[in-house]
Amino acid sequence: MAYEIASIPGDGIGPEVVDAARPVFEDVAEQHGFELSLTRYDWGTERHLEEGAMMPDDGLEELEGYDAILLGAVGHPDVPDHVTLNNLLLPIRKGFDQSICKRPAILFDGVESPLEGYDGGDIEFVVYRENTEGEYANMGGQEHPGHDHEVAIQSAVFTRTGTERIVRAAFDAAAEREGHLTSITKSNAQAHSMVFWDQIVEEVSEEYPEVTVERLLVDAASMDFIRRPEEFDVVVASNLFGDILTDIGAIITGSMGLAPSANIDPSRTYPSMFEPVHGSAPDIIGEGVANPIATVLSGAMMADYLGEEAASDDLWDAVTDQLADADAPRTPDLGGSSGTEDVVEDLRSRL
Ligand code: NAD
Ligand code: IPM
Ligand code: MN
Repeated sequence: MAYEIASIPGDGIGPEVVDAARPVFEDVAEQHGFELSLTRYDWGTERHLEEGAMMPDDGLEELEGYDAILLGAVGHPDVPDHVTLNNLLLPIRKGFDQSICKRPAILFDGVESPLEGYDGGDIEFVVYRENTEGEYANMGGQEHPGHDHEVAIQSAVFTRTGTERIVRAAFDAAAEREGHLTSITKSNAQAHSMVFWDQIVEEVSEEYPEVTVERLLVDAASMDFIRRPEEFDVVVASNLFGDILTDIGAIITGSMGLAPSANIDPSRTYPSMFEPVHGSAPDIIGEGVANPIATVLSGAMMADYLGEEAASDDLWDAVTDQLADADAPRTPDLGGSSGTEDVVEDLRSRL
């Protein structure tokens, strides 16, 4: 098999981690007898600053023929985030109907959690984040600029199709895993969207009698991610709540630099996109110390999506081995003093 992958390294540490991870993916492909051809697109804020656009007008058409997309990060201190993100990353998720965002949070052996008393294997859940609507629908506007009665309106949109799709994907995952689903809402305050969400969870739950359902409000859930993370299995949340909770999920399992994600179009009409959960990390740009593991694991999720499960398992195993080895190189986010390239070279030697 030969797979055509569009690589969009983006901004900040995005190119550092995506370019560093590339040989890892090429090695694993060769070992498993498939071809992985990565085409690199220099889209991002530098392009915006030079040419006035994050990507070409026909950017999505250009990407449409690929088997998958590998993205680094988007966001640059010189341009407002709502401009950069709404002209590259978010249009891809939305335009390609990548409605299911899957974000595992796993505490690996050998990785220290900031939570006392947690060891490798103690935390292992996955967040199913609705990825194309909800609070990110960006409907609304600003009225009466400069006046005392100026107002900004930002609406959230929850469709039955979109909500059922993410809820069902989460139930499917729970049925395959430990059989426990936690649905996150703010239905005590948000009567329209979140009560609707609760109703849909209730309806869909009837199709999955083997899955136990827990409902949590997002404020309490944020606390419980810290107080009792070991009790979560599959967590389903709206776009914004899923975003916030997955940064908590990343840090309680050691680092933003370890958390991967998959943005899936369940109908497979369009390419799905794989990217680390973290951003462009302006505080460490150019130091050569960005942790590439979140990107490597995003590549593992991509391999699995492409049907190359054995290659995916090998990538997960190489990372697991490395993290468990106290003598292996580690980037500073994990308490080490090694660089991105050292981690990549060591991973390649373990494949
Ligand atoms: P961030 O994830 O970029 O950084 C948060 C913290 O985590 C920083 O201290 C950073 O150094 C650390 N970190 C992140 N990735 C790391 C890695 N691979 N290795 C080691 N340390 C790592 O979040 P932020 O600072 O809030 O955002 C920076 C920019 O990135 C903003 O412009 C934001 O909008 C954007 N952003 C983009 C994405 C994306 O493209 N998917 C995600 C989050 C944030
Ligand atoms: C993420 C990021 C993005 C999001 C931002 C940069 C728009 O935080 O992928 O987690 O909120 O989805
Ligand atoms: Mn985020």
